[in-house]
Amino acid sequence: MNLKDLFIDFFVSKGHKQIPSAPVVPENDPSVLFNTAGMQPLIPFLLGERHPYGTRICNYQKCIRTNDLEEVGDRTHHTFFEQLGNWSLGDYFKKEAIEWSFEFITKVLQMPIERLAVTVYGGNETIPFDEESYNKWLSLGIPKERIAKTVEDNFWIAGESGPCGPDTEMFYFRSDDEIPDVFDPEDERWVEFWNDVFMEFYKDSEGKISDLSKKNVDTGMGVERTTAILEGVNDNYLSSMWKEVIDLIVSISKLPYEGNEKSMRILADHVRTAVFISADPTGIKPSNTDQGYILRRLIRRAIRHAKKLTIPVESEFLSEIAKVIIQKYKKYYVELEQNESIVLEVLHEEKERFNKTLEKGLKEFERVIKNGQDIDGISAFHLYDTYGFPIELTIELAEEKGLKVDVDGFNKKFLEHQALSRTASSGKFKGGLAGNSELETKYHTATHLLNAALKIVVGPDVHQKGSNITEERMRFDFSCDHKLSDEEKKQTEALVNQWIKEGLEVSVSEMNKNDAIHSGAECMFIEKYPDVVTVYSIGEVSKELCGGPHVKNTSELGTFRIKKEEASSAGVRRIKAVLE
Ligand code: ALA
Repeated sequence: MNLKDLFIDFFVSKGHKQIPSAPVVPENDPSVLFNTAGMQPLIPFLLGERHPYGTRICNYQKCIRTNDLEEVGDRTHHTFFEQLGNWSLGDYFKKEAIEWSFEFITKVLQMPIERLAVTVYGGNETIPFDEESYNKWLSLGIPKERIAKTVEDNFWIAGESGPCGPDTEMFYFRSDDEIPDVFDPEDERWVEFWNDVFMEFYKDSEGKISDLSKKNVDTGMGVERTTAILEGVNDNYLSSMWKEVIDLIVSISKLPYEGNEKSMRILADHVRTAVFISADPTGIKPSNTDQGYILRRLIRRAIRHAKKLTIPVESEFLSEIAKVIIQKYKKYYVELEQNESIVLEVLHEEKERFNKTLEKGLKEFERVIKNGQDIDGISAFHLYDTYGFPIELTIELAEEKGLKVDVDGFNKKFLEHQALSRTASSGKFKGGLAGNSELETKYHTATHLLNAALKIVVGPDVHQKGSNITEERMRFDFSCDHKLSDEEKKQTEALVNQWIKEGLEVSVSEMNKNDAIHSGAECMFIEKYPDVVTVYSIGEVSKELCGGPHVKNTSELGTFRIKKEEASSAGVRRIKAVLE
């Protein structure tokens, strides 16, 4: 049986409810481009909101981490991964979490105990040593030499602020060498594959730590790593998860895997991530900002490595690889099959676009380095701007020639380039979590009013395609085939302000998902929601499936102003607005 099914069955047998995997692009968290952990879509619930499924939940979540994009190519790094998680929302704590982790890995997965080791939180001046977890592992039969106490690596938080706490990590000795008696977490033969976080704190943006209203458990197990462990391979790309993909790359390149691992891994990894991003219900397309830019970089880097593997870049190799990936994952992620034609079109079009400049760009690169000199920021920017070479591509090409790139100089030019400054300057590549400040909460409610107003002014076919909120403004993407006229903008603004003046009450209720949809509740990604959903209503004007939080009454919002209306992508318009 598949690891994902084993995990879900096990935790369901321990009273957990399975929740669906959320889209990889978070709906209302402007501080991250992608979900980087299974807990990310659950933040409101970890902070105290009641989850419609109760206090014990589990799932597998699609995640993307791109901050170590350059590392991909070795045996273990990936930009996309699936995380298995079980959560206690104020229900069980350390004892059960550790006992069940142990039972799952030793009984269900049958990992031999002599290959296991764990870390626990060692304690600092504010948070004490996690003695309870230490003793629990001992009592289960993990010898004390295999329990390391560390501080740095045993406190988990997604980014800079948010729910957090000490954790205990599980490691497996993945090597044919003799197993050392004493566990050293720095020794790379020990591979971390599961992490149980005991989330009892909240860290605010100033770094202040306070207690959460409830003690939660948040766990995360990497599907890829665990599968490789269970199959006894040292290279994740040799596990059954990748076999068909690597076999296909070997066959279309007519080259062996051995000796060509790096490019084959990059090609496999990047196409898989591109498939998941472009199949996401958020409708991301390659572009020069935010998620679209990550998608572009992944596809372009994949193409460059295909070229290194002598695959003719005008052939439909990306689609061929994508189709194998879709086949492999569609059972677990229905959107892959539903959006297959979109995925294939995205890959094809981006390939066509890049192919137009790739050859010329490579020639330009050769010209820049012809005297063997390093690449200055202006040349790197020129390669980016004129030939569409993402910076890591230039760095990689330069490294292959033993040359350096002035990345700071490039970044300076990049920031000056107005259209791109937003992505680069906001540091969003690093991850992190948004606190739900009062202002953000107000903007969140305002998006619901704007959505409702657009449906009246523009038409009932308007649907939300995305939103992004900061303390300064809101951004709202919606389906619409034309540029809004001044009149439409004025009417929309006036309607929202009228509703604010009317002081409409915001109420919340729990409903069966189908009843909610039938009652006309608006919903962006139907597959994201469990069978029982939270519905927020604003007077009689708006009803949406949503996790909150929201203000209590629209009179709290102030005055709503549309600042800008522009195209976002084909068939999608974007409004930027403020509350004054
Ligand atoms: N959220 C924790 C992690 O990603 C479980 O490691």
